[in-house]
Amino acid sequence: MGLEKWRAEAPANIALIKYMGKGDGVGNRPANQSLSYTLDHLISVVEIRPHEGGHDLWNPLREESMESMALSEKGRERFLKHFDFLKVQLQIKGNFEIRSGNNFPSDCGIASSASSFAALTKAAHQMALDCGLDRGAVEALTPEEISRLSRHGSGSSCRSFFSPWSLWKDEGGEAVQFPWTHLHHQVVLLERSKKEVSSSEAHKRVVSSELFQGRASRAEKRLQKLVEAMNKQDWKSSCELVWAEFWDMHALFETSAPPFGYMTDRSFKILEMVREIWKSEGDGPMVTMDAGANVHLLYRPDQKKCAHRMLMGVGGLAQVLSSPGLTGEAESYL
Ligand code: DP6
Repeated sequence: MGLEKWRAEAPANIALIKYMGKGDGVGNRPANQSLSYTLDHLISVVEIRPHEGGHDLWNPLREESMESMALSEKGRERFLKHFDFLKVQLQIKGNFEIRSGNNFPSDCGIASSASSFAALTKAAHQMALDCGLDRGAVEALTPEEISRLSRHGSGSSCRSFFSPWSLWKDEGGEAVQFPWTHLHHQVVLLERSKKEVSSSEAHKRVVSSELFQGRASRAEKRLQKLVEAMNKQDWKSSCELVWAEFWDMHALFETSAPPFGYMTDRSFKILEMVREIWKSEGDGPMVTMDAGANVHLLYRPDQKKCAHRMLMGVGGLAQVLSSPGLTGEAESYL
């Protein structure tokens, strides 16, 4: 079998225009296009080795720079199911052990599904180059095609193949260019426990909301406007659109039958702080929230001071995980 181990890594991403709600059928077809910024500093790593035992298995990857990943029984099943799918698609025979880990704590409330499913897809692709039955076909696969395969495991993972910006239209992600090629990122960690409603479950529930009618066209229009604003480097308009977008998604959650939600008192406090900064300075961070209580903040390269102000403001309220270059590696956990 040649090589005894295949290894790949992939980053997390944060959506500015959200994927929420799926089309009918399997394979995670999104109800609307989504756009994300890639979080190159938050990485999942996957290693695959042959395993004699008649079945595939998953174990945490234990390494110094890695936080070991805890996967629930269901999480493991889902990961191995995607691997099964990849084996069929890439014509890989045999059984394997998969190990995975993140360079960020798995209990910190940052979704690792996008990065870990993308890393698994990449590792399987590498393996197929060595031991797949149709090497020529595997070699010919483009990053866009590999991203499509990843979509089947977890939708948002298909955006983790492109950096710094990724657009997922329908089948999979693709690179898009904007004048801002680097943004600083902070995530205010407000919830570490497992979410009561997973994002996969949220996708199913939101279709029961009255607001889901019209959601796709609202998201599409917002995307067009955001693309225009970002191309013009109009930060304020971009931030307003991204703000409206995450509230739109959270409104879907709160108006589903039965309703559910993720925002906590502390999320509101952080949002209030952001409002204050914008009010007093006429400038501020771009804010977004996923299906969780954590608040993600993005800053232009010239907004380091603003990022520090925010950090000071958050103070004792919560931990902040910052991208390197903002506070320096050693200070990334406060
Ligand atoms: C709120 O990709 O986790 O983060 O396809 O079921 O795995 P599955 O869902 P997932 O959904 C992510 C939803 C979101 C918004 C986004 O990332 O676009």
